[in-house]
Formats: sequence, structure tokens, C-alpha cells
Amino acid sequence: MSSRAEAPEDAYTAAPFVPDHAGLTALRRAAAGCRGCPLHRDATQTVFGAGSAHARLMLVGEQPGDQEDRRGRPFVGPAGKLLDRALEEAGLDPADAYVTNAVKHFKFTRAEPRKRRIHKAPTLREATACGPWLAAELAVVGPELIVVLGATAGKALLGSSFRVTEVRGTVLEEEIHGRRERLVPTVHPSSVLRADDREAAYRGLVADLEVAARALA
Ligand code: URA
Repeated sequence: MSSRAEAPEDAYTAAPFVPDHAGLTALRRAAAGCRGCPLHRDATQTVFGAGSAHARLMLVGEQPGDQEDRRGRPFVGPAGKLLDRALEEAGLDPADAYVTNAVKHFKFTRAEPRKRRIHKAPTLREATACGPWLAAELAVVGPELIVVLGATAGKALLGSSFRVTEVRGTVLEEEIHGRRERLVPTVHPSSVLRADDREAAYRGLVADLEVAARALA
């Protein structure tokens, strides 16, 4: 048994690490030292959001993957490449968006020591613990529209009853962290890569992003 005292899961929170009234640079620096939940222990680094503080569009994913964890930037792996292609097809420039994740550390398991790292979905508690970073990003960027990529991001922003299949491709208006936000939920791009019918899944993602493009026009 570990002799180290563990905070109980319901006490996980990034809140004490988030500086007040900070811009993105100061937030990113502070997030690098976040110990608000145990995910920082095995991850290489914090993967904070990337993009302009003036972006009109914010994209929120689940958590960094293997490549994002190594490179320190969100959506630079296979899911990110597919997402960029889908955004462009929908008429949105990926370079204009602020891109982030609900959870800022990579969570993974290994089948055997030193074997490949396998993505493991974060718990709702871990996503909730990380919420103060997302709230701070939303306060600084103040996007006109949020594209919610999959269930983890949806639950982090809209609560545990969120079901992506029920609301994908629609424009929602909700109060989030004290601000009225417009959101378009869609599937996570990784689910497109895993789908039996990849082409149909990709077309569905593009159609949802077209709704976002029209909402921003
Ligand atoms: N999946 C995510 O949700 N975010 C990333 O940054 C990469 C893959």
C-alpha cells in the first residue's frame, strides 16, 4: 500500500492552481504545474489549449492522446488531422479556432510494461476536476460558438445527462460558468476513425460542422 495520502476522488480539483484574471500565457504556464488530480503523474506534460484569445470558435475535445502528450499540443495526432480536414470541408478554418480539451492530461493504460500506451477515457470526476481550466479558457477567449467533440466534452460542459446522439448537429444555448454560450455538439473525431462505415461517419461529422459554420456566419 502506498504511504502517500491520496485526496479522495471527489476532492480532485484544479481550482487552487488556476490564477485569477490571467491571460492565456499565464494560464498555460500555471497549468503546466497542475496537480489537481492524479493524471499528471503518468502524463508527459499538461496539454493546454492552443489558438488565439480572439478566436470566434472554440473546439473542445476529450483529452490529449499519445502524440499530443509527447508534443504538448492538442489535436496534432490522427484524430486532429481528420478534424482539420472536416473543418475545412465544412468551411471553417482550423487555424482560426481555439482548440482545447476537457481534460488536460493524457490518461492511458499499458497491456504490459514498456508496451504501447492505450488511451483510457477519463472519469466524470477527472473531467470535473479539470473544469476550472476550461472555465478560465472560456472566460479569456469568450468564443461566439463552441463545438463540443463527443461525450466527455459534452458532459464536462453540459452535465452528466448529455447524450451526443440526441443533440448533435443542433445549436444549443446554455448558461456555462456564468456565461450564456452557444454550442454545437458533434461526435468525437476518433469515433470516426473507429467506425465500421468511416465514410458515413465522416460525412455526419462534416454535416454537424456545417451547422456550426452557418451559426458563425
Ligand atoms: N483527442 C482529443 O480529444 N483531444 C486531442 O487533443 C487528441 C485526441
